[in-house]
Amino acid sequence: MDATFDINFPGCIGQMARLLNRNFIIGVTGSIAAYKAAEITRELKREGANVRVIMTDGACEFITPLTLQALSGNPVHTGLLDTDAEAAMGHIELARWADALVIAPASADSIARLVQGRADDLLGACALATPAPVFVAPAMNQEMWAKAATQENIHVLQNRGITILGPDSGSQACGDIGAGRLLDPREIIESLVATFLTGQLAGKHVVITAGPTREPLCPVRYLSNRSSGKMGYALAEACINAGARTTLISGPVHCEAPPGVVLVPVETTQEMLDASMAASDDADIFIGAAAVVDFRPESVATQKIKREGSTTMDLKLVSNPDIIASIAARQVRPSLVVGFAAETNDVTTYARNKLKKKRLDFIFANDVSDSAIGFNSDSNAGTLISADNDITMALSSKRVLAETMIAELAKHLPET
Ligand code: C5P
Repeated sequence: MDATFDINFPGCIGQMARLLNRNFIIGVTGSIAAYKAAEITRELKREGANVRVIMTDGACEFITPLTLQALSGNPVHTGLLDTDAEAAMGHIELARWADALVIAPASADSIARLVQGRADDLLGACALATPAPVFVAPAMNQEMWAKAATQENIHVLQNRGITILGPDSGSQACGDIGAGRLLDPREIIESLVATFLTGQLAGKHVVITAGPTREPLCPVRYLSNRSSGKMGYALAEACINAGARTTLISGPVHCEAPPGVVLVPVETTQEMLDASMAASDDADIFIGAAAVVDFRPESVATQKIKREGSTTMDLKLVSNPDIIASIAARQVRPSLVVGFAAETNDVTTYARNKLKKKRLDFIFANDVSDSAIGFNSDSNAGTLISADNDITMALSSKRVLAETMIAELAKHLPET
C-alpha cells in the first residue's frame, strides 16, 4: 500500500499509523520499569497516536517528566491541584479527552489504589473520571505479584472491565526470577492496536470523494461552495483504521490526508469524475462526501473577465455530470455506493428521493441549516438511510460519526 509521508508522523514512512489520532493517557507509577514508559510513549507516537502522560510522585523518582514531555510532545501532568496544569487542561477534561488510559508500569500500590477508587492524586482521579477503557500493565517484584492481596486486586479490576496486560516473567531488577516484569512495550502496543484497529474492512478498497469542486470562470475566478472536506477526511481516517485500502479524491481543502491514504487531488467536477471512475474499478465501497458544484460556466474565458463599466453580467451555466450516479450506474459497480444529502428543509424526504434517483445503497441525510452540523463544523448528526432501514446518528464529532458509519457499512458488505 502507498504511504503518505507526513512530517507530523515521521515514524510512519512506509508503515501504517495504526493508532492514528487516537488519544492515549499513559499513567506512569513508581516502579523501576518506569523508564520503559519512554518506549511505550515513543511507539504510540510512531503509530500516529496523541499521547499525554500522567506521572505519580513515585514515578518522578525513577524518571524525569522532561523525558516523557520530549517524547510525547506534550507537557507531563503530575499534580491534581496544580493550578497551571488545571488551567491548561483540567483533570476532567483530560479524562474525557482520552480514548484509552494505559497505566504502565502499574505498581502494586497503584493497583490497590485503583481497586479502592482513590482520587487523591491525578492518576486516580482520571481513572475514575474517564469514560474510556483502562489498561493496566503491572510491574513489581515476583513475591509482591504472587501475594493474595495483589491477585485479588487484579481480579477485582478484571471484573470491572479493566484489561490487564501481562505481566511477563523472567529475571527481575531486584535479582529475583519470576512473574512480575512489565510486559514488553511492543506487546503492550500490539494489544492496544488489536483493541483499536477493528479490521472490519481488511482487504477492502474504499474510494471517497471529499471537499468542494471548483469550476473556473476565467484564470482568476471560479464557482465553488463552502465544503471544508472534514467529513470526507474523517471517513478516510475511519477506513484506514478499519484496515481498508483507501483512495481519497479531494477538491481543494485545508485538511491533512491521514497517513496511508492514497490522495488524488482534483479541482473540477470532470476531474473528480475521471479520478472516481479510474479508482473505483476494484472498489468495494464508494462514498460521495464531496459537495460537487452542480453547474459550470459554459465557456471559460482565457483571460481575466473585466468589469469595463457594466453593471450586470450574464453567465451561462451547463449542468455537471453526477459523479455518484455515474458510479452507481456502472455495469460492475462497488458493492456499496453511499451518498450524502446536505439539506436545509424536508431533509429525509429529499434524501430518500436522491437514494432512489441515483440508485444508491445508503445516503446520509443531514440538516445543514443547523450551524452545529453545517459545512464547516467539526460535528455532524443525521440519518443513514437505506431502502429498508433508517439509522439515526446523534450529534458527535465527525471522527466518531465516521467510525460509526464505517462500522455500519462494513456489516452490509457481501461475505467473501
Ligand atoms: O448535490 P446533491 O445533494 O445531489 O448530492 C448528493 C450526493 O451526490 C452527494 O453524495 C454528492 O457527493 C453526490 N454528487 C455527485 N455529483 C454531483 C452532485 C452530487 O457525486 N454532480
